[in-house]
Parts: sequence; C-alpha cells; structure tokens
Amino acid sequence: MNLTVIGTGYVGLVSGTCFAEMGNTVTCIDIDEKKITDLKEGIIPIYEPGLEAMVKRNVQNKTLHFSTKLSNHLEKCDIAFIAVGTPMGEDGSADLKYVIQVASEIGRCMTHPVIVVDKSTVPVGTADKVKKAIQDELDKRKVSIAFEVVSNPEFLKEGDAINDFMKPDRVVIGSNNEEATEKMRALYAPFFRSSMDRLITMDVRSAEMTKYVANAMLATKISFMNEIANICELVDADVNKVRIGIGSDSRIGYSFIYPGSGYGGSCFPKDVKALKKTAEEHGYKAELIKSVEDVNDRQKLVIAKKVIDRFGEDLKGKTFAIWGLAFKPETDDMREAPAIYTINELVKRGARINAYDPKAMEEAQHFYLKDLDNVFYFRSKYETLNNADAMILLTEWKEFRSPDFDELKTQLNQPVVFDGRNQYNDQLMTKRGFEYFQIGKST
Ligand code: UGA
Repeated sequence: MNLTVIGTGYVGLVSGTCFAEMGNTVTCIDIDEKKITDLKEGIIPIYEPGLEAMVKRNVQNKTLHFSTKLSNHLEKCDIAFIAVGTPMGEDGSADLKYVIQVASEIGRCMTHPVIVVDKSTVPVGTADKVKKAIQDELDKRKVSIAFEVVSNPEFLKEGDAINDFMKPDRVVIGSNNEEATEKMRALYAPFFRSSMDRLITMDVRSAEMTKYVANAMLATKISFMNEIANICELVDADVNKVRIGIGSDSRIGYSFIYPGSGYGGSCFPKDVKALKKTAEEHGYKAELIKSVEDVNDRQKLVIAKKVIDRFGEDLKGKTFAIWGLAFKPETDDMREAPAIYTINELVKRGARINAYDPKAMEEAQHFYLKDLDNVFYFRSKYETLNNADAMILLTEWKEFRSPDFDELKTQLNQPVVFDGRNQYNDQLMTKRGFEYFQIGKST
C-alpha cells in the first residue's frame, strides 16, 4: 500500500519505517526541514535500538521516503497516519493543536478518498474533531470526498519499539466503517503470521479509550507496588519477596510490579493525567487514577529522602555518584525521569553530582538539568565515584547490574549505595561491606 505518515517523532518514525520494512511504500512527512534532510541521509533524531539500520535499508530500497510537503504525497496515498505530538496542556489535558493543524492540512490537499488514521495518543472524541477539521476544509474548497477517520493507537515501548511493532501483542483498530476496517486489517495482516485474533477491531471511541486505559492500568500496577514497597519498609517486610509471592498468581502476573523510584517517560505521566482530565470533563472524579499520580509524584523523591535521612538536610560538601539518568534503560529519553527530581532535590541542598548514563547525558546537559550548576558528567560509571560519598543507581542499565564491587567500594569515600531499582542482592551487599539502601526493604 502507499502510506503517508505525518510526524517523524518517536511513533511516526518507528511506524513508518516498520510499514516500509513490511513492503509498503511509505513517505514520512515533517515540517522540520533539518530533520527531514538528516533522515534522508539516515541520521535519526532519537536513539532506538535497530531503528537506524532499518531506516537506512528502506531508504536504500526506496520503500521509505522523507519529505516536508504533504500535498505532493497525499494524492498517491491510500492511508494517512497522523503521528504528531500531543503535548500536555497547562490543565493536564492533551493539547490537540498539532493534530488538528495536520487534519486541516489534509483537508486542504485531499484529492481522493483517503483513510485518515489517528496514531498519536489522543483523548476520546478526537476522531470526531479530526473529521470535522478535514470536512471544514473540504467545504471551503466546495468539494465532496468520502474519507474515513480511524483510530489505531500505538503500544510501543521505547527501547523495544521495533520488536513491539514487528511482532505486536495486539493491534487495535477503531473504525465505524466496514471498508476502512478491512483495509486496515489488510495492512496489518502481514504482522500476524498465524493468529489474526490479536488484530482487534472495535468502534472508534472504544479504541481511543483502550490506549489510555492500557497505560493507566500499567501505571496503576506500578504505583500500587510502590505504595506496598513503602509499607513493607515500615513493617519490616521485603517487597522483593512479596513481589515474587504475588506474581506467581497467574491472575496477577510478574510484569509491571517492580517497585522503584517511580514511573517516568513521555507516556504514563501524560496519559494518566489526560485520562483524569477526560473523566473530570465528563463530571466524574477519578479518585483511583488521581492517587496513581500522587503516589508516583511522591515516589520520585523516595531516594532523595533516603539520602537526606542518611546524610542530613544540609548536603553542602557532599558528592553523589549518579548511575543512570534516562527514565528507563535502552533510551536517551529523560522526560519525567526520576533522576531529574532526585538530582534537583540533592543539588538544592548543596550536593555536588557526578553523573553517568550510557545514552542520556547529552539530553541531561542540554535540556533537563541544564540550569543546575553543580552537576558534572563522566564518561564511565567508575569515574563518577572519585571522592563521592555514595553511589545512587536510578536507571537499571545492564552495565550497572554486576559492576566491580571492589572498585565501587574502594573508590567511594564511604561504601554507601542507594538503589532506586533494586538491582542488587542486599545480603551480598552487606557481606561485601556496603551500607545498602533499596526500595521496599528497611536496612
Ligand atoms: C509505555 C507502555 O509500556 C507502552 O505499551 C506504550 O505504548 C507506551 O508507554 C506509549 O504510550 O507510547 P514506555 O513509556 O516506553 O512505554 O515505557 P515502559 O517500559 O512502559 O516504562 C514506563 C516506566 O515505568 C519506566 O519509568 C519504568 O522504569 C517504570 N516501571 C515499569 C516500573 O517502575 N516498574 C515496572 O514494573 C515497570
């Protein structure tokens, strides 16, 4: 099929590239000229394992194209995906201005029936707004074209996005039109070798809701477990054992019940807020969803609190080695990362930070921590330890899993480790001579 993907951010670029890999002809559109010039040369703006090679391969094969001009491509295209950003508005709702701008642009240049797909994460009712924006432009042009708007939310995890797209757990297609549903099924059929029952079709509004509910459910599991971790510390239980104990019940399962220093990223925080806002707009007070958010806000400061309990309120003259800045491993993304909150809290109290992350240091330096004076960046995890009073682990990168503990111990001023992701065995850490603080187990 001939596809257009508008927006070359995370979702747009991964989706467009994977559709091309499956043999479709895809043009990815973005208004950012520099981004498009770079992409044509295979330079990609984000770090995502496997993506760069896939982009290069498909550009070479001429299955993947990049352009700044939507009008040149829309006339040849069967399906147009809207994959532009939906930043969080000041009131917590998803800001749809880019989505609607793109819809209007589609309306201005549409010449034949196109299926328009909402791929961006958008609140319930957005497909209707997109439809109206397109129709308004068609009316202005006094033309009549039968187009359809479909919801096809994305369930990619950063760091594993190619795999998620190429071998999806499920694909959700929300459409109120049978022909459009069939066309979308045909597009996705090659991604499901045998069982098509994971290609789930439903009405547009239910599909829009599904995306938010999936993320809010996962965020709820995490906040629930973080709350349990905090209670475990008070009653002298070990959350790591409790986690295994409950996960073995297949109704609960092991996934997404790892306690830590809170969830971050571009999705959970924004989507939980937006769902709460949608409920409010419809006169419903979503108490549980609000608590999920409140627990997470508090959890992001749990490690800083442990540091303060150990070293005191005034941290002047203290240095902390931070291992991990990204909101999770295998990404350079620092949006809503617990590291931002932890580091700000420590620096505010006078501490010096020696930071290392395998991928996210540029993001930190140029954006998220750029206003902080007392943060220094190092090329390896061991270099951060020099003269540091404690090591604080905030992202569970594989390279932090089994460090040289002797080096860790000898380099630190005192062998103190705060672990925001429960990566080490506490008994072994004690045996090795560390003072070891983790989440959900008192020391
Ligand atoms: C999330 C969802 O997992 C994807 O299914 C969804 O498509 C995506 O949002 C989206 O809406 O686009 P992502 O934000 O990339 O994906 O990251 P996750 O791997 O889900 O992790 C989110 C956060 O939860 C991380 O900060 C992670 O450290 C934290 N987490 C995860 C925990 O604290 N405990 C866990 O047990 C699992």
